[in-house]
Amino acid sequence: MSASSIRAVAKIRRLSALRPTLGLVLGSGFGHALTDLEVAARISYSRLPGFPPVGVSGHAGELFLGHLAGTPVVVLSGRAHFYEGHDMDGVTHAVRTLAALGVRDLLLTNAAGGINRRFRAGDFMVLTDHINFMGVNPLRGPNPAGLPRFVDMTRVYDPDLSALLHRAGRASGFKLRRGVYLAVSGPSYETPAEIRAFARLGADAVGMSTVPEAVVARQCGLRVAALSCITNLAAGISGSALSHTEVLAAGNRVKLVAARLLREFAQLYGQPANHR
Ligand code: HPA
Repeated sequence: MSASSIRAVAKIRRLSALRPTLGLVLGSGFGHALTDLEVAARISYSRLPGFPPVGVSGHAGELFLGHLAGTPVVVLSGRAHFYEGHDMDGVTHAVRTLAALGVRDLLLTNAAGGINRRFRAGDFMVLTDHINFMGVNPLRGPNPAGLPRFVDMTRVYDPDLSALLHRAGRASGFKLRRGVYLAVSGPSYETPAEIRAFARLGADAVGMSTVPEAVVARQCGLRVAALSCITNLAAGISGSALSHTEVLAAGNRVKLVAARLLREFAQLYGQPANHR
């Protein structure tokens, strides 16, 4: 564990006696879930050692401890993206800190472009697998003591946690899609030729986050599930140009559904049979 993670954990532990085993990372479109959180403590990333500043609109950069639907959770609202110029250690530091804090299960959320022709803007997709197209692996470099060097990626996204997401979808009256998420570094959106290529590679959705965090979480032994909000059809599929404003607006339209899904998920997770 890095010195800055140790200091961040000490600081978080001083904030509250809550010791959640569930961590949530809120990406674009999922921030509204905070309105349902019974907050026990909150702290800006700027006060947590090793947490890089996060700079994209739609991402606040705060850590919360509290209860969601009665279940203790630690919530990362906002994440550091690779395209902002952070290195992979910066992008994944928050996940390593959650692991050091005692989190055992992690739900990652994000906004993504739909590649699968059946997907519509406003759909939600549970990740079954991913393709790392970011050009770099977050585990490259010196290995943290005691953690595996070569990490199995056969089942990054845990079937049991993913099943809870689908149950949360049914409880909310929504049928969730499932599919493969392909991560690019960004920040430009893709070209239509890239999207055609990604479709042939087996991708159902494309985005600029989540994969580094999922890989590091697996190295730390966490169970991982991930949920994409399909905010737009990927480049060339609808013919219209892509913009971050459109992505944020689509996230805003489905924010109540997104919040409901996370609430139902937390409630199901809180049942003794569903967590470790
Ligand atoms: N491409 C990459 N990242 C994204 C997209 C997209 O179309 N939509 C939301 N995040």
